[in-house]
Amino acid sequence: MNEKIFIGVAWPYANGSLHLGQIAGCYLPADIFARYHRLKGNDVLMVSGSDQHGTPITVRAEQEGRPPKEIADHYHQDFLDSWRKFGISFDLFTTTDTPNHHKLTQDLFLTLKDKGYIYRDTTALLYCSNCSRFLPDRYVEGTCPFCRFEGTRGDQCDNCGKPLNPVDLIDPYCRLCTSVPEVRESEHFFLRLSAFNDQLIEWVRGQSHWKQNVRNFTTSLLTEGLKDRAITRDIEWGIPVPVAGFEDKRIYVWFEAVIGYLSASVEWAERSGDVEKWRQFWQGDAKTYYFVGKDNIIFHTIIWPAMLMGYGGLNLPYDVPANEFLTLEGRALSTSRNWAVWLPDYLERYDPDPLRYFLSVSMPEDGDSDFSWREFVRRNNDELVATYGNLVHRVLTITYRSFDGQVPAPGEFDERSSALLKRAEDALDTVDGLLHQCHFREAIRTAMSLAQEANRYLDEKAPWKRLEDEREGAATSLYVALSVISCLKTLFNPFLPFSSQKLHQLLGLEGRVEDGGWSIARLSPGRQLAPPQPLFTKLDEEIVAEEDARLEHARIS
Ligand code: MF3
Ligand code: ZN
Repeated sequence: MNEKIFIGVAWPYANGSLHLGQIAGCYLPADIFARYHRLKGNDVLMVSGSDQHGTPITVRAEQEGRPPKEIADHYHQDFLDSWRKFGISFDLFTTTDTPNHHKLTQDLFLTLKDKGYIYRDTTALLYCSNCSRFLPDRYVEGTCPFCRFEGTRGDQCDNCGKPLNPVDLIDPYCRLCTSVPEVRESEHFFLRLSAFNDQLIEWVRGQSHWKQNVRNFTTSLLTEGLKDRAITRDIEWGIPVPVAGFEDKRIYVWFEAVIGYLSASVEWAERSGDVEKWRQFWQGDAKTYYFVGKDNIIFHTIIWPAMLMGYGGLNLPYDVPANEFLTLEGRALSTSRNWAVWLPDYLERYDPDPLRYFLSVSMPEDGDSDFSWREFVRRNNDELVATYGNLVHRVLTITYRSFDGQVPAPGEFDERSSALLKRAEDALDTVDGLLHQCHFREAIRTAMSLAQEANRYLDEKAPWKRLEDEREGAATSLYVALSVISCLKTLFNPFLPFSSQKLHQLLGLEGRVEDGGWSIARLSPGRQLAPPQPLFTKLDEEIVAEEDARLEHARIS
């Protein structure tokens, strides 16, 4: 029976382009996972969208003097373009500003309110009398009361990851004018998180398959005890609160963004022509995965599950395989200091697969990892080009030249050949198991070591020396090598979809790699191959200095 796999990926704020940290944090692993499950023949629904509301968007809009919608739509297009060029294969990438999402958010809000999980209360908020406005979330900065980090934003501390209320900040100041704000009362709606504390503890206890860091972080917040949180804001941009008297307020961006997973699924079903189809991924034995960066864990292991528990009838997350952070040349990525490699810039100059390769082999899975241009060029040249690319190119060119461009008929397999074929079968099982458990780094390393082994085999057999005297032996070793290459095409496909598809065509096959499923598609002797072409391009060492200079130049210190 094919499994139903729902993959939700963090909704990026539509206030700037994507950088490599976000790609390594969640978009690439989610895409690898989706492609793997599709190859396995499972039903996959992978959704996300641009997060168009909230103070991250309005702060940017005010800085640029443009309407928030204009900013949000601009970056939405930018994201779509990046997904297409980088091969992130969403089934739907929508936005939080669709009528469908507004409606579902308001429905959920009212349902939770009717059930008593959302209540009304007055609360003390920060108000800037100089700007004549309340200062929600990112409009205020100060020192974190937990870890004393300075320049912490009012919604969450970037340093210790704890959620915050602006009034908790030590020495707060208005982000727009730097004045010291005063405290004023305002009426808001609150999510009764405290009501779910015990139920959440019980549930998390059962999630032994979660990553250690995700489980520990979640458990410690639950042990400290959850506080109810305001889920409306004094702001003009966002989804209206569906209650009379709240016309001037909007629903808090985080409360609605997580609902996006559900509304995007509903939108996808509507577009597919079967409006009820989303249920297959949200009810019954469907498994729900959420790929998010480390700073988003709490929203996916506590807040969204609490909302789902309160609402009822929908599956809770099965796993939240959050990654740690990617650093750049040893330093933390920083958007405000412009210390980042932006995906659209990268894609203007280079192919997608070398970056997908780099970020897969050094994914920040259980600790931070680093991107540097030097390592990028090295891995491209020494691993992609010299190991995998070279294997493919050697085998295809000799075969093409010496066997009329056809897959040669093998003779009997000797022990060495059988052992290599067996090793390919084993790699298929090993990588299968690793990907199933979201161990991406280990999975791609296993695939690469099969390519290394095939190169060794080829060096030993040296078919190019035997074409005249031992033609059958040469044919056999080329046939074996072609079989391994065909296996590598599948193993690498989730990671390197572009070159995998290219290899598929070079092997003379039609259609898509996915159609072959998770198997070694054995090549039949006599099959016509396409004229060989290199899979990857060697990068000039000079680009390291060039790119480093570009980074330094853009950096705002
Ligand atoms: N926009 C948030 C960020 O960029 C992520 C939202 S994830 C969702 O950090 F769950 F709310 F959708
Ligand atoms: Zn101010």
